Amino acid sequence: MESTRVAILALSLLVAFGSSSAKVEEENPEFWRSQARKTLQSALDRKLNTNVAKNILLFLGDGMGITTYTAARILKGQLQNQTGEETVMTMDTFPNVGLVKTYSVDFQIPDSAATATAYLCGVKTNLNTIGVSAAARNGVCKTQKGNEVTSILKWAKDAGKSVGIVTTTRVQHATPATSYAHSASRKWYSDADVPDAAKRDGCTDISSQLLNNTDIDVIIGGGRKYMTPRGTKDPEYPRDYSSRGKRKDGRNLINEWQRLKIGKVAHYVWNKTDFDAVDPETTDYLMALFEPGDLRFEADRDPSMDPSIVETTEKAIRILQKNPKGFFLLVEGGRIDQAHHNGRAYMALHETVAFDYAIAKGLELTKEHETLTIVTADHSHPVTFNGFPFRGQSILGKSPLWGTDMLPYTTLMYGNGPGHKITNGKRPDLRNVNTKTKDYIQLSAAPTESTTHSGEDVAVLARGPMAHLFQGVQEQNYIAHAMAYAACVGADVRHCQGQTQPPVVHTTFTDDKNGNGGTHGSVTLLMSLLGALLAIALLI
Ligand SMILES: *[C@@H]1O[C@H](CO)[C@@H](O)[C@H](O)[C@H]1NC(C)=O
Ligand SMILES: *[C@@H]1O[C@H](CO)[C@@H](O)[C@H](O)[C@H]1NC(C)=O
Ligand SMILES: *[C@@H]1O[C@H](CO)[C@@H](O)[C@H](O)[C@H]1NC(C)=O
Ligand SMILES: [Zn+2]
Repeated sequence: MESTRVAILALSLLVAFGSSSAKVEEENPEFWRSQARKTLQSALDRKLNTNVAKNILLFLGDGMGITTYTAARILKGQLQNQTGEETVMTMDTFPNVGLVKTYSVDFQIPDSAATATAYLCGVKTNLNTIGVSAAARNGVCKTQKGNEVTSILKWAKDAGKSVGIVTTTRVQHATPATSYAHSASRKWYSDADVPDAAKRDGCTDISSQLLNNTDIDVIIGGGRKYMTPRGTKDPEYPRDYSSRGKRKDGRNLINEWQRLKIGKVAHYVWNKTDFDAVDPETTDYLMALFEPGDLRFEADRDPSMDPSIVETTEKAIRILQKNPKGFFLLVEGGRIDQAHHNGRAYMALHETVAFDYAIAKGLELTKEHETLTIVTADHSHPVTFNGFPFRGQSILGKSPLWGTDMLPYTTLMYGNGPGHKITNGKRPDLRNVNTKTKDYIQLSAAPTESTTHSGEDVAVLARGPMAHLFQGVQEQNYIAHAMAYAACVGADVRHCQGQTQPPVVHTTFTDDKNGNGGTHGSVTLLMSLLGALLAIALLI
């Protein structure tokens, strides 16, 4: 009690002396009234857009929870010398917002594989599994057969649209992989990662499925090393052993991809010079793999070698939008998550700001009357935004109030993560620490090597045809169904037939080569337990 009173007193004193940071125009009530009147009028003027979506642009911020979203907004403004809180991000302009429940079938807090299967394939599933229903078990190839579920990328392609994936991770990573692959394990990047037993049972690696499943027009990200024979020197890092090819089967999937596209204008590029030279007007297919694995963080990117997510998004849209039937494009800001796993808020927020600029580019290149644009996250991270920082204070700075241990703390901190440190019963003393550097690791309450994910709802934001379907508190797998309905792809084509009654034929979203029997009966309790244990063991 006493300490609370001291804290409040301290805060009042700080506010009294710190009030110069407040903005004079905001002291005038008319400032807030006129701003609200404008917002109200634009809400009143808004008309429902019930068009059929020709194009779908899905922007997926991996690990971009609400706290990350708010903090990135402030950072975006502060990078432009604004106070930041009032800054309007591009994603803030989306008129329709809902909340998404992200849990997977087996875990309260999910991973990117299970969640991608939900929002891309329309079916919730188990942790670590991609493009398969929850009847499949993590890492158990036998349970994969017959339980495959297809994604909206395939439904769009089957409907004659062009399709693409753009990511800042390797293109075999959980989020993009779920758009084209079926795998009992998200870790089966190349054949070298697939256990012999799984190979005997007929499971193939994710990279080979990139070539064998849906014909994808634009593939942009990283992941060269999973495409080439073991020991193949990387063109960019020829002396780095860990960058060398991983495949044991001797296949060079980049060469195979080029051969598959003979007769079309198809470009494979691995650096910015060649990427810039790709003319979208004359290009049918593009595969761009800029790193052996994931791309670099935006803050560490070499702009002469690797394009930004804004540039890759633009190239993809310009290639895809030549199709008169439209396109489906998944753009993943994939390393927001990875920066949070490292406990580095600076990196995570800069990734998110770059992601917002990519969204702006997407809106600039498309028309709202025919393009459904969605922004969402797969899951959140346990980053908190706390203390009583002043208006305009650096989002990477410290609370003006100190803890009862008489030590300062940053306004962004983690629930768990690598930033936990207690020496002689005390937290690290941050008084002389610059917490705004890109390598600073924020404090965490519990020690873990890697920050885990967190389980609160994430946002879904929408604009364009049928964007009003993205409202309320929804299960994550609803997103795939609502996008497909809006664009008239997949099993439910009522929207382009002028009907709203449930479809007569009850169609499942399973692969065409399978029925919907699955292997439910044959899966033993032991397998589920093994799967759950594996999931915990393998979790990022
Ligand atoms: C913000 O201010 C700094 C220091 O005054 C200046 O160097 C920088 O160019 C400014 N940035 C913008 C976007 O105005
Ligand atoms: C994948 O496609 C290639 C080329 O079309 C073909 O030779 C190969 O048999 C296919 N593999 C699988 C597992 O379907
Ligand atoms: C980019 O890739 C092309 C094709 O491999 C190569 O000829 C060129 O030298 C590369 N450019 C740079 C800057 O590495
Ligand atoms: Zn993660």
